Amino acid sequence: MRLDKYLANSGVGTRSEVKTLVKKKLIKVNGEVVKSSSISVDENKDVITFKDEPVIYKEFYYVLLNKPKGYVSAVEDNLHPPVTDLVSEFAFANLFPVGRLDIDTTGTLLLTNDGDLCHKLLAPKYHVDKTYYVTTDTEISQTLVKKFKEGIILDGELTLPGDLVILDSHHAELTIHQGKFHQVKRMFQHFGLKVLELDRKTFAFLDSRGLAIGEHRELRDEEIRALKALVE
Ligand code: URA
Repeated sequence: MRLDKYLANSGVGTRSEVKTLVKKKLIKVNGEVVKSSSISVDENKDVITFKDEPVIYKEFYYVLLNKPKGYVSAVEDNLHPPVTDLVSEFAFANLFPVGRLDIDTTGTLLLTNDGDLCHKLLAPKYHVDKTYYVTTDTEISQTLVKKFKEGIILDGELTLPGDLVILDSHHAELTIHQGKFHQVKRMFQHFGLKVLELDRKTFAFLDSRGLAIGEHRELRDEEIRALKALVE
């Protein structure tokens, strides 16, 4: 692949910035200063350095965000800031959110540029679990546990069983295994309850523990491997 692509995809700089870095003799391939940013390099064999620090090539990035309210789960929007604004240091990687959380929903949201994995994680057949902490306007009746387990009709289809754990009169945790549009809010609405606050605690085995609201981190290698294994 071209050296400028390698460096741009590794977050060193845009292709034009890379050109300037090459001119400044800051880029070396296998210990030799390079003269052009358009030369070919082998990402599996060549050692590329910037200011004598190795630059490790990664094709795909996986970033976990603790989404705040007020951001839309999109890469651009005319009215509201997109979640990608919160991970702007990865702009070079063109990340997108894996599924969507409503603008007023907070919590665990994965962003990646791995389209294949994203597609699989969202595919109904893999039933990736998502757990939400729900605050309602009225009391949550014990009967909802059974109703959600049986499934309800949304968009003309029976939802998969949902696991509801009532925490107190107005708070519960609901785990669902699919991701229909506004699914959690609509499930409660079906029984006359309004969801006042919605926070996604987990997406598969990922949670945003340790991340303050609005913060993010890259997934660790073992987390990436485990996510891929979930949808093999
Ligand atoms: N269900 C909803 O209703 N909203 C979300 O943001 C996520 C799940």
